[in-house]
Amino acid sequence: MGASTIAANVSTMIDAESIAKRVRELGEQITRDYASSSLVLVCVLKGSFIFTADLARAIDLPLRVEFLGVRSYGEGTKSSGVVQITHDLSRPIEGEDILIVEDIVDTGLTIAHLLELLKTRKPASVKVCSLLHKPARTRVVVPIDYLGFTIEDKFVVGYGLDWAERYRNLPFIGLVESSS
Ligand code: IMP
Ligand code: MG
Repeated sequence: MGASTIAANVSTMIDAESIAKRVRELGEQITRDYASSSLVLVCVLKGSFIFTADLARAIDLPLRVEFLGVRSYGEGTKSSGVVQITHDLSRPIEGEDILIVEDIVDTGLTIAHLLELLKTRKPASVKVCSLLHKPARTRVVVPIDYLGFTIEDKFVVGYGLDWAERYRNLPFIGLVESSS
């Protein structure tokens, strides 16, 4: 096999094996915590589609998966602070145990907005599972009930996360090196 084309200018921050191990641990923890209830994973599109797919398979409980489309960034790397819903849940969530699955909590604005929105629909509970957290950029403190990794203030790509819609299909989390 030749060298990877998409990963050519990306350096590894968290490799695929470390991600898989951490996702298994989170799945086990969630399985224990929700043992007696029925769970709805709310996958926040697009960034958490890969994380949700892996996490769902690491949870040994009956569950539903819902998708919530959210746009909080333009094509660049700065948060606009504006959260737009581009795709809503397919069913009501009243009385259900909701676990929001995010790729990364950066400023916290997206999760803060989603928590408020979902709570108006009267679920039994709402918790947050995020693969990554960048505490250096916090603007609103939000609860992260399940966290994969805390990272420094660098823009990361891969495992679902994009830079201008690219790199989502990298199997690891990495940093884009500025070319030439
Ligand atoms: P927040 O509202 O600032 O917390 O940002 C949430 C969203 O911004 C995340 O769900 C990501 O989609 C995007 N985001 C924040 N930081 C990064 C990054 O380093 N790489 C890729 N996307 C990011
Ligand atoms: Mg996201």
